Amino acid sequence: MPAAIEIEGLSKSYGHGDEATMAVDALDLEVKAGEIFGFLGPNGAGKTTTVQMLVGLVFPDGGKACLLGKPLGDLEARASIGYLPETFDFHGFLRAREFLEFHAGLYGVDPGEREQRIGEVLELMDLQANADSRLRTFSRGMLQRIGIAQALINRPRLLFLDEPTSALDPMGRRQMRDIILSLRDRGTTIFLNSHLLSEVEMTCDRVGIINHGRLVRVASLPELTSPRPCVEVDAVDMGPEIMSSIEAMALRVEQREGRLLVWLEDESQVNRLAEIIVSGGASLRSFTPRQRSLEEAFIQAIEEDEQ
Ligand SMILES: Nc1ncnc2c1ncn2[C@@H]1O[C@H](COP(=O)(O)OP(=O)(O)OP(=O)(O)O)[C@@H](O)[C@H]1O
Ligand SMILES: [Mg+2]
Repeated sequence: MPAAIEIEGLSKSYGHGDEATMAVDALDLEVKAGEIFGFLGPNGAGKTTTVQMLVGLVFPDGGKACLLGKPLGDLEARASIGYLPETFDFHGFLRAREFLEFHAGLYGVDPGEREQRIGEVLELMDLQANADSRLRTFSRGMLQRIGIAQALINRPRLLFLDEPTSALDPMGRRQMRDIILSLRDRGTTIFLNSHLLSEVEMTCDRVGIINHGRLVRVASLPELTSPRPCVEVDAVDMGPEIMSSIEAMALRVEQREGRLLVWLEDESQVNRLAEIIVSGGASLRSFTPRQRSLEEAFIQAIEEDEQ
């Protein structure tokens, strides 16, 4: 199966001379068909610009890309792509149903099928009761929902979501997560720009981290969040001998809130660590292998890049 997204040397700068900003700087990236790819980066890193180039809203200065095996701009591929922009200019006078009819038309959805599709996406986004309300009466979260509904109207094979849940309440976020996971089960490839790392952690297969327009990491979620095992130890009577044995075997030892965080070279040392503590005469109150959160991994990747 060809990759859903192949990007080679894609670049875009804004402004001229001293004022120029390299929004995206020679980006190379591949997203496999069927995967959920999280694209992370600080504000202004180039995430939105990347997506805008891929969906044809911004013309790249250089480089190339293929979506669903077709070069950028291919109309057949375009019909299979859904896009939720970061900000949407809604025409407030349109009713929800009219807005979706308009987008179904833009995507070339068969007129005979439009009504069914509209019903489908309204139901999916919990907007049936608002189908005949004007968009100007919608809350911010409701607008985000109708934006997502619009992105799904053509049953896309490849879906770009730029901050899909920034305005949603906790229920809405969970619902969005379930929708993303069920779309993946149907084989949809999803490219997700998000600052909500817990959400990315729960849905994405792989993650790319971009900083100042340059890709600084691409990795699967497990690779990123557990590079080294870490154990959180809560124990009493940890004498100096135990401490020096732990320091001798560990990569790093840190005291935090009365507990000990111990980083190890690999999993096989976890048992050994417990043995050292117990055989040294200390009593374990808890012994918890920890994963690094995506937030810690993200901040570390950005800090390393800045240095
Ligand atoms: N239309 C524009 N004109 C001029 N500069 C722009 C334009 N759009 C983006 N930029 C600049 O390009 C850079 C990348 O912006 P972009 O919106 O892609 O970042 P982002 O990663 O999506 O940020 P955020 O997390 O805030 O959404 C920033 O320095 C921004 O100021
Ligand atoms: Mg953005």
